[in-house]
Amino acid sequence: MSKTILKGGKVVDANASREADVLIMDGIISEVDNNLYVGDDVEVVNVAGLTVMPSFADLHVHLRDPGFLHKETLETGIRAAVNGGYTHIVAMANTKPIADNTEVIADVLARAQRLSLAEVYQAAAVSIGEKGEKAVDFRTLRSLTKFFSDDGKNVDSEEIFAEALRASKELDFLIMDHSEPETEMVLRNIELLEKNGGNLHFCHISKADSMMAIMNAKDKGLRVTVEVTPHHLLGYDNDYRVNPPLATKADVDFLIRAIKDGYVDCISTDHAPHTAEDKAAGAPGISGIEVAFPIINTVFSENGIKPEGLSRLMSKNPMIMMGVNSGLLQVGYEANLVIVDENADVVVDASKFVSMGKNTPFNGTKLKGKVIHTIKKGEFLK
Ligand code: NCD
Repeated sequence: MSKTILKGGKVVDANASREADVLIMDGIISEVDNNLYVGDDVEVVNVAGLTVMPSFADLHVHLRDPGFLHKETLETGIRAAVNGGYTHIVAMANTKPIADNTEVIADVLARAQRLSLAEVYQAAAVSIGEKGEKAVDFRTLRSLTKFFSDDGKNVDSEEIFAEALRASKELDFLIMDHSEPETEMVLRNIELLEKNGGNLHFCHISKADSMMAIMNAKDKGLRVTVEVTPHHLLGYDNDYRVNPPLATKADVDFLIRAIKDGYVDCISTDHAPHTAEDKAAGAPGISGIEVAFPIINTVFSENGIKPEGLSRLMSKNPMIMMGVNSGLLQVGYEANLVIVDENADVVVDASKFVSMGKNTPFNGTKLKGKVIHTIKKGEFLK
């Protein structure tokens, strides 16, 4: 039996923050308490001055595999995620070929499993080829995934979106909606949800008006979830190309207000690696998974949002949405953990990214917070 104690650190999850040791036995959190007894058979990792938290879960990542291996591969993308403190990620379907069939999805899942690093869920497209003309075979694909998204493209057809919503209710899956134009489509899709029911998640919301519409829907009792990206909380009035575009300071302030008021379910990175050539040719996207923690740690602490709030949005809620018994520092849960230095001064340096995508508008930005270790089922991956 393997036993590890993370000794002398601060432990934080969505519920609480305190000083405590963490005992991991055979990949499971077995005790969280002060001054845990260290037997001969225990490996001790001194984490004094550091913070132990549940590892992060990202509902929105572009791994580019298959088809765009010059931008990222399954392996580089997953290693980048681990470097950022993530153990669980959902890969988007805008690969080549598009992940609209069982072959592509089963292949990605099998290769990810063989790498045996982070847990990868492969989203399926909502429409064949993300063309918006014909819905995918939800029933068949549901056996391989619980996430469906035409991310990168709006689903223009009301009929297909409504069909997807009804299927999401019947087959119990999540539709991850890329609304473009954002506010207009958020409003339309809330209306379609009211008429059809279903499980709807709004991706990368950037504007106050869109968030307001989602808050109103939640206040009315509609069951919707919403994610915000780190880059839309840090960047504004900046024309670096990303979908949706970086917004204004007023939008950012509103998003932060929405987070404080409990309306935002999770932080997702929308990690979108591109080559320098593709960026120069206008490709939208930011390579962000390795700086998500320092960005959110910085923005949240500057706005008086506690580490518990960060843990709720980066671990607890997305893990629940993935259906994983993780995301809290709770005895009996899988030991999927990060050890971070909340106070480390860091400067974003894309040349050091593990990701093949070095595309970020934040190079040189000073932030606070560093991921020191990423642990999956008790195993140190970083
Ligand atoms: C995404 C990508 O590169 O796959 N880019 C982005 O700016 N978010 C797709 C998209 O949403 O346009």
